[in-house]
Amino acid sequence: MSMPMQPDRVIIFDTTLRDGEQSPGATLNAEEKLLIAQQLAQLGVDVIEAGFAAASPGDFAAVRMIAAQVGGGEQSPIICSLARAIRSDIQAAAEALKPAVRPRIHVFISASDIHLQYQLRKTRAEVLAIVAEMVAYAKTFVADVEFSPMDATRTELGYLYEVIAQAIQSGATTINIPDTVGYRTPKEMEQFIQSIRANVPGIDRVILSIHTQNDLGLATANALVAIEHGVRQIECTVNGIGERAGNAALEEIVMGLEVRKAYYNPFLGRPIDSESPLTRIRPSEIYKTSRLVSHLTGLSVQANKAIVGANAFAHESGIHQDGVLKYRETYEIMDATTIGLTENQIVLGKHSGRNAFRSRLQTLGFDLSEADLNKAFHRFKDVADKKKEVSDWDLEAIIQDELQVAIEAGFQLEHVQVTCGDCTCPTATITILKPDGKIVTHAAVGTGPIDAVYRSIDQLVSIPNQLIEFSVQSVTAGLDALGTVTVRLRSEDHSCFTGQSSDTDIIVAAAHAYINALNRLHRHLHSQAQLNQAQQSAYDTAGILF
Ligand code: KIV
Repeated sequence: MSMPMQPDRVIIFDTTLRDGEQSPGATLNAEEKLLIAQQLAQLGVDVIEAGFAAASPGDFAAVRMIAAQVGGGEQSPIICSLARAIRSDIQAAAEALKPAVRPRIHVFISASDIHLQYQLRKTRAEVLAIVAEMVAYAKTFVADVEFSPMDATRTELGYLYEVIAQAIQSGATTINIPDTVGYRTPKEMEQFIQSIRANVPGIDRVILSIHTQNDLGLATANALVAIEHGVRQIECTVNGIGERAGNAALEEIVMGLEVRKAYYNPFLGRPIDSESPLTRIRPSEIYKTSRLVSHLTGLSVQANKAIVGANAFAHESGIHQDGVLKYRETYEIMDATTIGLTENQIVLGKHSGRNAFRSRLQTLGFDLSEADLNKAFHRFKDVADKKKEVSDWDLEAIIQDELQVAIEAGFQLEHVQVTCGDCTCPTATITILKPDGKIVTHAAVGTGPIDAVYRSIDQLVSIPNQLIEFSVQSVTAGLDALGTVTVRLRSEDHSCFTGQSSDTDIIVAAAHAYINALNRLHRHLHSQAQLNQAQQSAYDTAGILF
């Protein structure tokens, strides 16, 4: 089947900021989303799904900020907002995307009988009519409209063809096929895509896309197999984060295509030995992007995660080590440096000066302002005083901490002091600078030192919450290692907030991580109570109700 509109490369549609943010506890504020969006642009993604503008004023503001600051140039990525197939959602998306040079509205509605019957309570005919009307409505705002029939892979095929054909007829330029519940196997996915391409009139005039969830661990496999059958856009997230078990991982898709280029070339109409990349992604930015997303969302990357896990390039067995030392390719199919991992991991110490520090940060891809550099240098000196060697991993943890603190200015931890041991009652004294400028101190006892710290902080901050996760991870090996503490809180309205911090003293890291999470919760409560005046007038103009 000929595909005149299809590019001979794979379009990477990144949904880290939308589906990825739906991971429990991964809530990001607008500034954090902007940082990630800037890095995604640096990474080279084609489309950034910046959020779901109608979901909340915060989402609206984030989509608008990204549209203006990341999507404002001719060479910028396409900025996209999700919208249900309802007028007010489409209006919110269009309004938030206004500053983008290349805006896209992504309209979706469920198509499977199970969703129609139990969730939408609509007939097939009603949904078909909504698709026609709402895709055409989105088209009145932007030329680039993507349509997704949600739960497509569990939808009766005949009806799915009708829904897709209708969306194309109404003006959709990309048709995305969501495997919403991660149900299909790669073999089935192959047949599924083939049958859509064979039976939907007009399908060759649009870009065919796929959105695969990872409930059975098949998201990447399902996405890659779809490319073999004409799919040209992959929806994916950094580190594979997302609703439930997550989405196809961007780094796995991109490196799969890169490492197995000769295998995929013919499916994209290229000579088998073509060397030109199959995506526009700069692989050298992958590792940095993965760390940034992990740090800001608080979702740790499992050690054995493909491509970006701590063990992805580590060789433990003697036979493997021997082989790699003799010839790397005996046990490695890709070079760690391709994804931006530096070979020289240990570089700085307490005698390193500001220039060495700045230059190492630049090599790692951190371009800090003079003020941020000074703060980070201060922090580096503190760590270097306690730790003989400061590795790239440590530097990265320091910088990410500083970024988070800069973004989440709210309550600030001034001092933490604990006494504990096997014949004393664990006691913590905490001093905090409150957002109103007051400095307050409280002491509390607990079952252990961290419990005592958290009880003291609770007394000072007075924000009801439930601690639902606490974990400590060592940044590097060795007794002097920095420990990264991750905490996750649940607020009274059941939203989840994450905080993370690294320090050589894990009690201090635990206190900072808790304050970071509380600051996010505090900000959430604040933004719910007080709608920013500028945002409010933007909604009023568009008549948008949240
Ligand atoms: O999982 C899903 O079906 C989605 C669609 C909105 C693309 O996220």
